[in-house]
Amino acid sequence: MIPPFPRTAVFEGAGLVGVGGVGVDDLAARYGTPLYVLDRAELVGRMDAYTQAFGADVAVTYAAKALCVVGVLQLAAARGLHVDVASAGELHTAARARVPMERVIVHGNNKSVEELRYATALGVRRVVADSFSELERLSALGDGRGVPVPTLLRVTPGIDAATHAFIRTGQDDSKFGFTLSAGLAHAAVERAQALPGIDLRGLHCHIGSQIADPDAFAAGADATFALLAEVRERARVVLPELNLGGGLGIAYRRGDRPLPIPTYADAVLSAVRRETARWHLPVPSLAVEPGRSIVGPAGLTLYRVGTIKHLPGVRTYVSVDGGMSDNLRPALYGAEYEYVLAGRPAVVPHHMQPVTIVGKHCETGDVLARDAHLPTDLREGDLLAVAATGAYGYSMASNYNRLPRPAMVLVGDGASHILVRRETLDDVLSHDVPLDAAALA
Ligand SMILES: Cc1ncc(COP(=O)(O)O)c(C=O)c1O
Repeated sequence: MIPPFPRTAVFEGAGLVGVGGVGVDDLAARYGTPLYVLDRAELVGRMDAYTQAFGADVAVTYAAKALCVVGVLQLAAARGLHVDVASAGELHTAARARVPMERVIVHGNNKSVEELRYATALGVRRVVADSFSELERLSALGDGRGVPVPTLLRVTPGIDAATHAFIRTGQDDSKFGFTLSAGLAHAAVERAQALPGIDLRGLHCHIGSQIADPDAFAAGADATFALLAEVRERARVVLPELNLGGGLGIAYRRGDRPLPIPTYADAVLSAVRRETARWHLPVPSLAVEPGRSIVGPAGLTLYRVGTIKHLPGVRTYVSVDGGMSDNLRPALYGAEYEYVLAGRPAVVPHHMQPVTIVGKHCETGDVLARDAHLPTDLREGDLLAVAATGAYGYSMASNYNRLPRPAMVLVGDGASHILVRRETLDDVLSHDVPLDAAALA
């Protein structure tokens, strides 16, 4: 079984030697390690797969939280995607990437007034309201500007998607949205309609992330349509828009079987057809918000092996030059990844040894892969590559232990382009303010 590296990956035996037409040893020599690498063909191939599968009438909205850097948002905008942002920082990135603001939507369960003001001043397409108090704040802003804010309401449909608890968002006990079961969603519709500064356009529903079950997506759509129908009965209004969120899972390990993008699109579009017929509703203007499934499989990380420590009868620890600061997901969720030798050919599988790959942080939990299989001739100084790190890797990166965050490059057609430059030690210290003599006295 092949590990889930991008479509341009080139192997010699079990060793990854190239991606995007560039040698991985050249990339490491030129840009250093750890290095985030994004394969352009995989990235834009996935963007295009989404727009083809959903068709021109559906707004495919890239969820920037998965990987929010200017170059990636430029590519998303150039491929005709919309962009969802979840903070002023992400919105600022979209503005810098010149994503047209009529294609930007703003999320967040605790947006500050400054963030809402920034979003409305830029004239974003939609703000997705998440609470009653936010509706009041938004309306005051819209009223003050004399332009009601085009708003969606985030609905929590009461669905427990089969995914990790930290990335489940559709269940009743969630910090996100207005719950359907308690009647809060309907009360929010009534409140939004009564507020002068709100232009209520429709509903939003996101059930969670890394989901492989088409029925879970269909159930989210069903619950949201039931609310649209209820709103029509009680408030005599047909809300024209529906945003069904993101959440499509990807392969992290050999043998993982995520839903292909067209199968996911079929599940969503069939649910929409079925529910509009069932409730005699017009087909709403639809949006979906994929993040992970666009950037995740396009990314890989290159590390340099530092120390190899054999603990007889216990295990072999292979330490790399990064860790939980550039990929938090194993420590945060117990997420598993696939590691291979990189930069030179590797021998056939029966010459493999079980190892535990760890980072360089002062934390026992800084384990990147507990049960990896690497060649028995692995040496200190070798390169390792880890697949599917494009989503929620760089975006969750930190400077823990004051490690500078890695560089990121885009590769394709034999060339590499820097997307994020490597931080220097001075970058890491750039916000520290030394105490003056008075404070030290
Ligand atoms: C509202 C919303 N939309 C879209 C996404 C993207 O999800 P994914 O990256 O799993 O596609 C998220 C992720 O948390 C989200 O909260």
